[in-house]
Amino acid sequence: MNLRCSECGRDADPTTIACVACGGLLAFELDPSQHDAGTIRARLRERRLSNDHIDQSGVWRYRELLPAIPAESIVTLRENMAPLYVGPGGAAYAQSGRVTYLHLGMNPTGSFKDAGMTVALSRAKATGARACICASTGNTAAAMAAYAQRAGLAAVVLVPAKGISESKVAQTLDYGALVIAIDGDFDAALETVRRLDPARIAIVNSINPYRIEGQKTAAYQMLEARDWRVPDWVVLPGGNMGNTSAFGKAFREALALGLIDRLPRIAVVQASGAAPFARVVLDGGEMIPVAAKTTATAIKIGAPASWKKALHEVKSTRGTALAVSDEEIADAKAVIGRDGIGCEPASAASLAGLRVLRERGTIAAGDDVVLVLTGHVLKDPTYSADYHGSSAVFANRIVRARDEADLFERIDAAASAAAHA
Ligand code: F0G
Repeated sequence: MNLRCSECGRDADPTTIACVACGGLLAFELDPSQHDAGTIRARLRERRLSNDHIDQSGVWRYRELLPAIPAESIVTLRENMAPLYVGPGGAAYAQSGRVTYLHLGMNPTGSFKDAGMTVALSRAKATGARACICASTGNTAAAMAAYAQRAGLAAVVLVPAKGISESKVAQTLDYGALVIAIDGDFDAALETVRRLDPARIAIVNSINPYRIEGQKTAAYQMLEARDWRVPDWVVLPGGNMGNTSAFGKAFREALALGLIDRLPRIAVVQASGAAPFARVVLDGGEMIPVAAKTTATAIKIGAPASWKKALHEVKSTRGTALAVSDEEIADAKAVIGRDGIGCEPASAASLAGLRVLRERGTIAAGDDVVLVLTGHVLKDPTYSADYHGSSAVFANRIVRARDEADLFERIDAAASAAAHA
């Protein structure tokens, strides 16, 4: 695979993270003429029966479509064997006919970041790097810390001191990373990381093209699990815009490889207080950074680094982008929970966005829709507790019985309500 500047197209040096000529982000280019769809499909079927740890990874089972990394450097936690779940409650809520959740929260560290980190850390290990760093709203930090530990690299994370999930930080501490809390927000943390020398410390934010290669396999995986039947729409939350870039790249590649016969359309959903990308898609022009504000803290990002790549992908699929309120996200999260699935707040932006796109008629009732759930429900338990302790639409209060008689009465009432439902 060739590494090129995603903006000026110039060949790039894999030890850098930005184009030396124009500063653009780098991207790998797959040559479809080197592959055959029938062979890929047969190989993937075979690997389902294999007990080899690399075959059991939902990332490395696609290794021929990834940048080459020596097998002995591969660090995997069997990431990205992400399930597809039908979502009847979500479908009813959005008045959408066919809704499936692609649950990337069912990853080893609880978010889609694992798919990118297995590739970024394997690459870092292969090059002999001793330390790695990222800026994060929590999930990237946790994923990097876990994979760094497995790869034998020291991990440094920069996180905003305020306004991210404590559970994600605690998880990152468990994995032994050096956690540096800064007074600024995610954008300030990433700005600091970008000033570092990648020869001294591996930079593994999604500006690192190896991250995008890993994350693109989530889209392959979803298509493969559907026997390569293409959904009409794929709806996903947008923050720093790495994941949208990865999904769009995967869809273009799958089409060029002949694995699919058309592109699904991508809809990106942002929180209204952190929606600079949605504004660019709707109004055109350059991305104007904003001071981000949202309770969906994973996507509290005001200056998305990968906005140009993501814009290209959204346009290639004739997709769209929109912003939804924090309240819409909170309600959607509770609805997904009632499907017995659950996800973290940022992930639920997908269902909130689908609901709006159905209301507007952008997505038709009969469309086949995949909602990407990016993080696990246990990523932010404080948020869930606050929601259910409030008077929100789907709030589900904790009950206390007055005495034993009251306790049995309540249990009986619940059983008989269920019997008559
Ligand atoms: N959903 C979740 C749960 C996330 O953690 C993130 C990003 C996104 C969606 C947005 O994805 O940035 O690729 O557009 N979290 C990063 C982090 C920023 O540091 O964990 P994106």
